[in-house]
Amino acid sequence: MRQSLIPQDRSPRVYVIHENDEWVVPLRDNFTSRGIPFAEWHLDQGILDLRGSPPPGVFYNRMSASSHTRNHRYAPELTAAVLAWLKSHGAVVVNGERALQLELSKVAQYEAISRFGVETPETLAVVGKENIAEAARRLGYPAILKHNRAGKGLGVRLFLSPAALDEHLASGEFEESVDGITLVQRYIKTPAPFITRVEFVGGKLLYAVRVDTSQGFELCPADVCRIDSPPLAGACPAAAPSDKFRIVRDFDHPLLPKWQAFLAANDIGIAGIEFIVDESGRAFTYDVNTNTNYNPDAEVKDGRAGTARSGMGAIANYLGSLLGRETGAPTRREPTSPLIPA
Ligand SMILES: Nc1ncnc2c1ncn2[C@@H]1O[C@H](COP(=O)(O)OP(=O)(O)OP(=O)(O)O)[C@@H](O)[C@H]1O
Ligand SMILES: [Mg+2]
Repeated sequence: MRQSLIPQDRSPRVYVIHENDEWVVPLRDNFTSRGIPFAEWHLDQGILDLRGSPPPGVFYNRMSASSHTRNHRYAPELTAAVLAWLKSHGAVVVNGERALQLELSKVAQYEAISRFGVETPETLAVVGKENIAEAARRLGYPAILKHNRAGKGLGVRLFLSPAALDEHLASGEFEESVDGITLVQRYIKTPAPFITRVEFVGGKLLYAVRVDTSQGFELCPADVCRIDSPPLAGACPAAAPSDKFRIVRDFDHPLLPKWQAFLAANDIGIAGIEFIVDESGRAFTYDVNTNTNYNPDAEVKDGRAGTARSGMGAIANYLGSLLGRETGAPTRREPTSPLIPA
C-alpha cells in the first residue's frame, strides 16, 4: 500500500485494488480517455486503520492469486481485510469478498460452480507431498497436478504414468502451492488443441477468446506470465502473441446462463471463465479468473481495440456508470456500450 487508503481529497472516484502495476496500465488509459476519476490501492502491504471510513466511490478488486510470485505474499490477506472493512461500511464493491475467496482457491471455484450444473474436471485436493501419488492412483492416469492457489499456470503438469509422477516428486522440481494444497486432476483430452476463455463484464458476456494450446508444454512467452516451471498451456492472455488468442465471433454456449448465475450468486461482476471440450463434446469448466487480463492483439484483430467492446474499455465504462449512479454525477462514457447497468 503506497498511499493512504483514505485520501485527503475525498471526491468520488473508482478505486482499483491490485498488486501488479503492469496489469493496470491499460485500465488507467481507459479511465483517463473517458474522464473517469480513479485512484489505485496497491495492496502489497500497509496499514488499514479500522477506525476510519472509506471515501465515497466505487471499489474494484483485482487482487491476483499469483501475487506471491511477485513477492506480495500477504496482498490477498490484506485485500480480504480491506474488503471486509468496505463491506461493513456499505461501500459499492465489484468483485467483493466472495470473489476473492474463489480467486484464491480452485477447490472453492469448483464447488461453487458445480452447484449451477456446470461440470468441472474430477479433482482430488491433497495436503502433504507424500499423499499425491496415492491421490493420483485413485484418480487414474493421465493426471494433471496444479496448485490450488494458482494463476499463470502455476504447478500445472501432465503425468502419463505413476513412474513419471514419482520421478517428478523425487526431483527438486516439485513445488507446493502457496496454500499447501496440490490438486490432482483428470486430464481432459481435446480433439483440437485449444481452450476457450469467456469474458464477462458487469455479469454480461463481453466475448469469448479461443486460446491455442498446441505449444502446451512451453513457457508462456509473455513476461507477465513467466514462471519458473513450464505450465501445461497457460491461458494468461496479457501480451502474448496474437495468433495464440483469437476472439470468437458471436460466441454462444448452453452453459452461458449457468456461468452467469454462478457469477451473480458469488459477487463476481468481472471475470474470465475457462473451459475445455473433450473428444465426446463434454465441456469442463476448470478456471475462474477474477482479475482477468485481455490480449491486445486479439482485440485489434477483432476491431475492438480502443472501443467499449474491448475488455478494459468495457470495464472502464461499467465502473464509470456505477460511479455515476453512486454519486448522481454524470460520467463521460461511450453511448454505444451495451454494458451500462439498468
Ligand atoms: N484438467 C485439464 N485438462 C487439460 N488441460 C488442462 C486441465 N487443466 C488445465 N489445463 C491446461 O493448463 C492451463 C492452465 O490451467 P489453469 O487455468 O487451471 O491454471 P492457472 O494457474 O489458473 O492458469 P492461468 O492463469 O493461465 O489461467 C489451461 O489453460 C489448460 O490449457
Ligand atoms: Mg487458467
